[in-house]
Amino acid sequence: MATGAVIVAAGSGKRMGSHRNKLWLPLAGEPILAHTVRLFASHPEVAEIVLVVSEQDHADVIDWLRTEGIRLTVVVGGAERQDSVRHGLQALSPDCSYVLVHDAARPFVTPQQISQLISQVQHDQATIVAVPVKDTIKVVGETGQIESTPARESLWAVQTPQAFRMSLLQEAHQRAKEAGKLGTDDATLVEWLGHPVTVMQGSYENIKITTPDDLLVGEAIMRKRKGE
Ligand code: CTP
Ligand code: MG
Repeated sequence: MATGAVIVAAGSGKRMGSHRNKLWLPLAGEPILAHTVRLFASHPEVAEIVLVVSEQDHADVIDWLRTEGIRLTVVVGGAERQDSVRHGLQALSPDCSYVLVHDAARPFVTPQQISQLISQVQHDQATIVAVPVKDTIKVVGETGQIESTPARESLWAVQTPQAFRMSLLQEAHQRAKEAGKLGTDDATLVEWLGHPVTVMQGSYENIKITTPDDLLVGEAIMRKRKGE
């Protein structure tokens, strides 16, 4: 049962405030994108990778992959993350029964977590990694006043990779596009189909590099992993 990966890198990184896509910013001296792509490209259980990039980054990504000697399929994404994932799924070969969708902006997922996810999704058909939230979360209304306080025990912050049976995720994306349904992650679309999604406890280190402070934390995680 082959597993493919769709790595989405076609954002612009607005919240980072840098002049070009944040994924080119260095982490331990190398682009964030390089760390994430290498991790999947060297994973023995990932049979195929589709990397989704923006029109602006396309030529630079192709050059970088050539220099690194990494062979994978590169496609251009869309305006929303969901569009980028859909483009990626369309480019994945039909040999892949399962797919992992991953944000290029999360370079700290480990090979062990990827393996666990691949084994779990063959049982559940839809499995994602997440961590219990540490803060108390409030629902705040437009007036700036608190509307409710959901019980913290039931709240999880979801991450990627998110793993699915390929046919299930394809159907979710197709139906969402037809209905104009937009979700901030892929699990949302599968939930919306009425299919159960299992949560696997991930790691607090699997952060998404979103704002400049995340780079500081990211460098610290890199140093820790190198044993410095
Ligand atoms: N992404 C994508 N296509 C889009 C938007 C986002 O492929 N149209 C990717 C990003 O490149 C990133 C991942 O989805 O790897 C998660 O998105 P996010 O962290 O929000 O990145 P950006 O959208 O680039 O950042 P921002 O929201 O701050 O503009
Ligand atoms: Mg975004």
